[in-house]
Amino acid sequence: MMRITLNVILRAMFGADGAELERLREILPGAIKLGSTLSLVPVPQWDWGRWSPWGRFYRNRREYDGSEELLHATILEVQRTRPVIDVTFRQVKAPTLEIGPWTLLKGQTVVASIGLLHADETVFPDAHRFDPDRFLARPPDPAEWIPYGGGIRRCIGAAFATMEMRVVLRTLLRDYAISPSSARDEGFRSRGVTIAPACGARLTVAPRPRTPSA
Ligand code: HEM
Repeated sequence: MMRITLNVILRAMFGADGAELERLREILPGAIKLGSTLSLVPVPQWDWGRWSPWGRFYRNRREYDGSEELLHATILEVQRTRPVIDVTFRQVKAPTLEIGPWTLLKGQTVVASIGLLHADETVFPDAHRFDPDRFLARPPDPAEWIPYGGGIRRCIGAAFATMEMRVVLRTLLRDYAISPSSARDEGFRSRGVTIAPACGARLTVAPRPRTPSA
């Protein structure tokens, strides 16, 4: 019964299938058992190597985290270079508001440009280059990476949207090899509130050979 439940969770929630599903099914039951035992003892400050319980725990986690980290970094970089929403607005409620050299008055509207901040070379060096590695080295600063806005009105669907992107991308990449078309630098068009690729994001897609799974 537990095995069936684990299968369902790995397939439905994490989009795992084929060889990856097999590997996760091997790693996880032992890792959960080991993790529950280890949670009762202090985390050691040194590495006892691959045959120690903590060494095995970290090795399993590194194996799983490696591909997840790159996938997540890629999603972060896509949202930096192509934010779905380009601007967000705030209205001044206090009698006055100082921002840098400006004094704004009650009732004035401020437009915060998500696109301009993400393209700012002083914030993201080599900003026009698509480079997911920049987020492998350091997670995004919530004051600099703002595709979901910020502060108390930040998008409430951010975590859900991220989870959706992870599941959709993992599922697509599992079944298809995806590469860009020969056209470069596709522009964007407005869809009202959101912006989208001008030509619908054309890709070259080829089915991947499937690895049989139980
Ligand atoms: C990639 C997907 C999404 C992006 C890029 C996005 C982006 C944004 C942005 C920029 C804001 C304005 C935040 C601000 O002014 O600081 C916002 C607000 C909001 N979003 Fe999203 N959003 C996404 C998905 C979703 C989803 C899936 C939901 C619901 C399940 C959602 C619900 C909301 C709501 C309710 C607000 C208004 C929050 C408020 O005013 O307090 N969004 N979103």
